[in-house]
Amino acid sequence: MSYLLRLEERPFPPDENPRERASFYDCFPFEYPAWGGGNFREPCLRLRTASGGGCCELFYEKHRIFPGKPPLEGLPAAYGGPEECATLEITLRDPALDVRVDLLYTVFEDVDAICRSVRVENGGREALDLSTVLSAALELDNDGFDLITLHGSWAREQTIDRRPLSPGRQGAYSLRGISSHQFHPFLALCEHTATQDQGLAYGMSLVYSGNFLAQAEVDQFDRVRAVLGIHPEGFQWRLEPGASFQAPEAVLVCSEEGLGGMSRSFHDFFREHLIRGQKKHRPTLLNSWEACYFDFDHERLLQLGRSAARYGIELLVVDDGWFGRRNDETTSLGDWRVNEEKLPGGLKRLGEELADLGVGLGIWMEPEMISPDSDLYRAHPDYAMAIPGRAPTLARNQLVLDLTRKEVRDCVYRQIGQVLRSAPIRYLKWDMNRPLVDVYSPSLPPERQGETAHRYVLGLYELQERLVTDFPDLLLENCCSGGGRFDPGMLYYSPQIWTSDNAEAVDRLVIQEGTSLVYPLSAMGAHVAVCPSHINGRVTPFQIRGRAALPGCFGYELDLDKLTEEEQALIPQQLEEYRQYGPLFRTGDCYRLASYRENHTYDAFLCVSKDKSLAAVSFLQVRSRAYRRSLRLRLAGLDESILYRRRDTGEVRSGAGWMRGGLLVEAVQSDYLSVLVTLEKIQR
Ligand code: DGJ
Repeated sequence: MSYLLRLEERPFPPDENPRERASFYDCFPFEYPAWGGGNFREPCLRLRTASGGGCCELFYEKHRIFPGKPPLEGLPAAYGGPEECATLEITLRDPALDVRVDLLYTVFEDVDAICRSVRVENGGREALDLSTVLSAALELDNDGFDLITLHGSWAREQTIDRRPLSPGRQGAYSLRGISSHQFHPFLALCEHTATQDQGLAYGMSLVYSGNFLAQAEVDQFDRVRAVLGIHPEGFQWRLEPGASFQAPEAVLVCSEEGLGGMSRSFHDFFREHLIRGQKKHRPTLLNSWEACYFDFDHERLLQLGRSAARYGIELLVVDDGWFGRRNDETTSLGDWRVNEEKLPGGLKRLGEELADLGVGLGIWMEPEMISPDSDLYRAHPDYAMAIPGRAPTLARNQLVLDLTRKEVRDCVYRQIGQVLRSAPIRYLKWDMNRPLVDVYSPSLPPERQGETAHRYVLGLYELQERLVTDFPDLLLENCCSGGGRFDPGMLYYSPQIWTSDNAEAVDRLVIQEGTSLVYPLSAMGAHVAVCPSHINGRVTPFQIRGRAALPGCFGYELDLDKLTEEEQALIPQQLEEYRQYGPLFRTGDCYRLASYRENHTYDAFLCVSKDKSLAAVSFLQVRSRAYRRSLRLRLAGLDESILYRRRDTGEVRSGAGWMRGGLLVEAVQSDYLSVLVTLEKIQR
C-alpha cells in the first residue's frame, strides 16, 4: 500500500523566496529532517561541530537496492534472508560538513511492514557531537488523526490512550534508562473513525530498550511529523573523523483494516522476523515468587515441585532468593552463588530431584544489579554506577552495574555461565528492578558522558547475545519489575516477557489488551496468581484467573496445595486448555472483539489459525449485565465459504454466517463468567 506524500509543493526557504518569513520548511515533507536551515520542527538529526555550529543540511547522493537485510552492529534488529526481503539504502550527505547519512529500508515478502534504520558517518576532519539521531520520521497530512500511545505504571503497564491530535508536540517517552512502565516505544496514528476492523492506521515501533521519544507534532499547516528514536535529552555521541553511529531500528506498519490489522501486521512481523526463539516450546511453569517470596528451602521447593509433577506442570521456577544471603531485598545481588544453607547440594541437587519427578528447573537472576551488601560490591564498589562526588541513589536497596564496561560485563557473564552450567537449568527469568539514575561511567571521558545511557543498553544487549549464543536451548524470559522493559529490543533475545507483576485477572485484561496492540500473545508471560491478589486485593475466581492467563505463556504463581479442592480440580482442565489452545494463540491471527477497558463489563478476542481451519473465541464477563439480552459477538477472519462446526454445541455455519450472524453469548446474571468456544472446519 502506498500513500503519496505531498510532493507538489515547493518549500519556501528565504533563499528561494526572500519575501517569505513564516513557513520555511514547515510545508515540506522530509524523509529525514536535520536541524537548521529553517526546519523548525522536531529534527531527526542534530549535531554540533568543533567550531560550535549546529546547522546540517542533507542532500540526496545515491541509492542502491539489494536482496536481504544486513544486521545492525551491536543492536537487536529484524532478520530476513535474500529470498524474504529486499533493502533500499539511500545515502544523503551534507557537503559542508561531509557528514554522510545512510537510510536503510527493508520490505518483506510475507508481512506488510517496513524496517528503517539510520547510520551517520563523519567524513570530515574534525570530531562532531551528535545530540539527536532519531530512527525514523513519518510526515503526513493530518487527516483528522487520533494518536494512540501506551502508558501506565508498575502493575498498570500498557494502558491504551487514544486522543485527537492537537497542534504542537505530543507523544510518549522514557528518560529512565529502560523503555519503562510509564510509556512505551510505540505510537499509532489512525483516522478518528478507525475501529478494530476498519479505517486507516499507521503504527511505529522502536526496537530499543532504553530512553526513547515517540512523538507526533502538528504544525501550522495541519501537517503531522511523527518521529521515533533514542530520546535526545541527555544523549550525546562523539563522532571522531571516519567513525559512524548506528541508530536502533524502527518498524512501521500501515493498515486499512483498522487497529486490528495494524496489530496483526506487528504480530506477524515480530514472530517471523524479530523473535528468534518464537518456535521454542513454551512450557507450563510454577513460579515460587508469590507462593513463598524469599521464604523457602530445599524441601519447600521440592514440595512445590511435587505438586507441579502431580499436574504435569513442566517447570519449577525458583524466583528471587536462592543465592548469597538473600532472605530479603537488602542484600546479595551480584553474588550469584547458591545459598547452601537454604539449598544444600545447590541447584544441581534440586534440579536432579525435580528431574526425577519429571519437572524441569528454571531460575531467576537480576544480572544488571549489585547490592551494597554483597561480596561483589565490597571487592569492586566502582562497578556500581555513581556520579563522582555524590552518593549513588538506592532503589529497592540496590545499585546498577556499569554495563558500559567490559570488565563488569565479563564478571557478570562469568557468574551467569557458572550457574547455568552447574545444574540442569532449562529456563532463566532475567529481571531488572530499578531505573537508571546515576548515569555516569568512569570509563568515559567527560565529553563522552552523554553516551553512557545508550552504551548501557548496548552492554545489556551484548550480555544477552552471549547468553543466547552459548545456551541455545535455554528459554529466556525477560522481566523488569513486571513489564518495565517489554519492548521489541528485549524480544529479540527472549521470546517471552513477564507482562506485569499484576497477574490479577481483571486488571490483566486491560494490560494484555494494550500489550496485544503491538505484540503477539506468544510474547506475554501470564500466570494464575494468589487470591486475594497481592497486588490489588481483588478476589477473582480461579477459573477466571485461568482463562485470563490462557492466551499468554501460561503458569501458576501460587502454592497449589493451598487451593481449595474445587480449585485444584480445575487445574487439569486449565493445563489441557493451554495444551490445546496455546499453539493457536501463539501462531494465529488475533482479533479483539470486545474491550473490558472500554465497556467495563466484558472482554473478548478471537484467534484464527493461518490456514483458517480452526478458530477459538474467548469471552470473559467481569460484571453482570443487568436486564440484558444475549450478546452477539461478530466474528472475523474466517473463510466466508468454509463450513465451521462449533465444537461444544455442534452448530454448523459458514464462515460468512459466523461473521455476519455472530456468536451468541447467553445473558447470565453473574459477575465473572467465561466462555471458550472452538470453531473447526468441517472436512468434506
Ligand atoms: C520483580 C518481578 O517482576 C517479580 O516477578 C519477581 O521476580 C521479583 N522481582 C523478585 O524480586
